[in-house]
Amino acid sequence: MSAPDYDPKRVDALSPESLEHARAEALEALRDASSLDELAAAKTAHLGGSAPISLANREIGVLPPAARGDAGKRVNEVRGVIEAAFLSARAALEDERDARVLVEERVDVSLLPGTVLPGGRHPLMALQDRIADVFVAMGWEVAEGPEVEHEWFNFDALNMPADHPAREMQDTLWVAPEGSGVVLRTQTSPVQIRSLLARGLPCYVVAPGRVYRNDALDATHSPVFGQVEGLCVDEGITMAHLRGTLAHFAEATIGQGLKTRLRPSYFPFTEPSAELDLQCFNCRGEASRQPCRVCSDEGWIELGGCGMVNPAVLVACGVDPERYSGFAFGMGLDRTLMFRHGITDIRDLYEGDQRFTLALGTEG
Ligand code: DAH
Repeated sequence: MSAPDYDPKRVDALSPESLEHARAEALEALRDASSLDELAAAKTAHLGGSAPISLANREIGVLPPAARGDAGKRVNEVRGVIEAAFLSARAALEDERDARVLVEERVDVSLLPGTVLPGGRHPLMALQDRIADVFVAMGWEVAEGPEVEHEWFNFDALNMPADHPAREMQDTLWVAPEGSGVVLRTQTSPVQIRSLLARGLPCYVVAPGRVYRNDALDATHSPVFGQVEGLCVDEGITMAHLRGTLAHFAEATIGQGLKTRLRPSYFPFTEPSAELDLQCFNCRGEASRQPCRVCSDEGWIELGGCGMVNPAVLVACGVDPERYSGFAFGMGLDRTLMFRHGITDIRDLYEGDQRFTLALGTEG
């Protein structure tokens, strides 16, 4: 039996017209593609598995062997033409894209680089840590308390009940609503109370932190500033311990060989109370070096308040004042920093100018 007369030209997909049509359609689609994405889509449509040319290729398999060679040649020829058109269209679109990217993403290497200052620790933070280190070296602990504080901790327990005139000394920022009893802490002294209640005895803590007062910002006032608080409660603590500790602290933090002095003062939470003064590190109180811009010729710089813990405070914290006594102190970090570095405007500490931070370094 002879093979049926099978004219490949009569198989539809393999007809010269179909192949010519497939070729023309493909070339048009490839030519019309205006982006690489469109070109990829055109390639799938005209060279992919379901493209007319691929379908035609599959038809070859059903032809009698004698007819396959001729059909295959014609299909391959068309496929070759489409593939060549695709490659040249891709090369053209890639060239176009590269030229565009060169313009759009051009980097002007002749521009001067922007000034990017390295960050630095804020001088207040550095000072705060230095002070804490001095006390930690003596075996004290660092304590913290919330900046949004209840008035009981900020005032009452510190021997400042609601009607106490000393409350007026601190311009308090109250947290709404009125009567909430919640304040932005006006001092770090509430950490004394929290420490006594939470840590038990003996208690040796130093508490640096931010405090708030209802003051307008000007060269010498800031509504937020730094303080460091200290508290020691143990058996047999006397004013001599207070004196010795603060003298060591002042020397270690500010300058060797500088004297300290205590001046009588008043704070509700200490009795007796004193102001701690440090000999001026600039003129050391020597008349020959006057006039002195650091201490305004006083010879002394006021560092902060201190005193023996008022027994009323101990009682508020459940501590027996017959058995325990203690001393406390509190000082402003900003003022100390300003004195040390001759800063005349407190706003410099809060405006975040990196040149200022870097100029003061991180040594505090
Ligand atoms: N809390 C006081 C203030 O802000 C400073 C102070 C004074 C703290 C005497 C103390 C102290 O612990 O004993 O003005």
